[in-house]
Amino acid sequence: MKLTVADEKTWKGKGRTLVLFGTADPALAAGAWPGLTKRAAQELLAVAAEDGWKGKEDEVLMVRPAAADPATRVLLVGLGKAAEAGADRLRRAAAVAVRRLRDLPLTDAWMLMPPSDGTAAERAAALAEGALLAAYRFDRHKSAPAGANGKKPTLGTLRLVAADRAGLEPLRAGVARGEVTAAAVTLARDWVNEPAADKTPTMLAAAALRMARRAGLRAASLPLAQIRKLGMGALLGVAQGSAEPPAFITIRYTPPGRPKKLVALVGKGITFDSGGLCIKTADGMESMKSDMAGAATLLGVMSALPALQPGVSVLAILPCAENMPGGKAIRPGDVMRAMNGTTIEMKNTDAEGRLVLADGLCYAVKEGADEIIDVATLTGACVVALGPLVSGVWSNEQKLADRLLAAGRESGEYLWQMPLVKEYRENLKSPIADLKNSEKPYGGAIKAALFLQEFVGGKPWAHVDIAGPSYGDRDLPMCRAGGTGHLVRTLLTFLERAGG
Ligand code: BES
Ligand code: MN
Ligand code: ZN
Repeated sequence: MKLTVADEKTWKGKGRTLVLFGTADPALAAGAWPGLTKRAAQELLAVAAEDGWKGKEDEVLMVRPAAADPATRVLLVGLGKAAEAGADRLRRAAAVAVRRLRDLPLTDAWMLMPPSDGTAAERAAALAEGALLAAYRFDRHKSAPAGANGKKPTLGTLRLVAADRAGLEPLRAGVARGEVTAAAVTLARDWVNEPAADKTPTMLAAAALRMARRAGLRAASLPLAQIRKLGMGALLGVAQGSAEPPAFITIRYTPPGRPKKLVALVGKGITFDSGGLCIKTADGMESMKSDMAGAATLLGVMSALPALQPGVSVLAILPCAENMPGGKAIRPGDVMRAMNGTTIEMKNTDAEGRLVLADGLCYAVKEGADEIIDVATLTGACVVALGPLVSGVWSNEQKLADRLLAAGRESGEYLWQMPLVKEYRENLKSPIADLKNSEKPYGGAIKAALFLQEFVGGKPWAHVDIAGPSYGDRDLPMCRAGGTGHLVRTLLTFLERAGG
């Protein structure tokens, strides 16, 4: 599906499929649709009222106007109470509309700008984001992708209609922004959805370098000899049970002016998590190609930075490995030495995420990061605590946590702060090494966060456990089942605000 903008004169009479947003206050809606006469609007609303449509949040109704009308179908989408129709509602409403239309064989549909808060550009960005995210599909492994070879035609172009010519420019700007953020989310979703066999650490590294070259970013993949020389024993320990070597990928963005600070982002890149020798059950393994969602999130985020130009330097660090139980696999009881010299006893080879992150965090500290955020599908315990839609946030600095949580609210993604309970640190002690990587159940998400804290060298740091929301087994309003791209938009907002 493509997205374009048009003014009211261009669409008039041509639109055979119209999307109209209405609030739960019909009078407001009737007056606010660009290019529709008040009478036409009132007639429509009268028909809708007969069918019981009230403009409630996400409420849709397909209306077929009289034969004489140029429009053959009008899709009414409710925004709920006018006072609450902010960016989040618009995103969802556009997604609801596209979900209803995306599988119809239409060359185009016209969407009239809705009444709502915010500038026209902000509204257009929210609509574009919601529409494009709802249109997303992952079909590169289908023998007959939708829309190809005339097999299964889908909605071609969605045209966003401005009230007048003067309204076109802000709409264009908003759509452009929505396209950038939606493309970033799409990139993250694509990588999460990709089968593990097609995204080994080596393949991910090559793809990251390609993306960086295209976007105008600096990127590197450390040679294996360099990973050894830097002493990344935790990453190497996790990787040794796989036939695939690990990869340590860095991507750098530098702002045009004087950078305000260096923000390091560290993403867990386990391309498949079998559990290693502490092998998972078949059920537990089913979705584990998604265990590199942290790394995928960062690929998406970085790809958008040259267009959004935040005022901070950003270093993305992606420690990638496959966690497999091969003949050379690391055993429970073995001891690893992380990049900062800390020794770790392997208790459970399925607690591998914190190990690859340990070396990633050490690297961030060594590179002089002023602030560190790690993103990881780290624990099942976090999913137990917060369910499938909410990420857990841990931080050693409340101000940093607050900024991250605020960015989440602004982006419409659910983040919830969890405590770093210092008493639980006892549980990380090993009789034979400095630390062990796991312990008895209960509070597992907190203990994992405490483990990570050992490697941040006292720097301001936040840890986001995206184990729940990064991958879904059912359709959501703005996302089909599979990779969600969760946290990409939050981090983009966070970085834009971090630059002042
Ligand atoms: N990748 C998993 C966590 C996970 C579970 C992500 C479910 C998404 C959905 C992680 O590597 C893991 O296996 N964690 C263990 C830790 C335990 C062995 C201490 C877990 O959560 O069971
Ligand atoms: Mn695991
Ligand atoms: Zn894992």
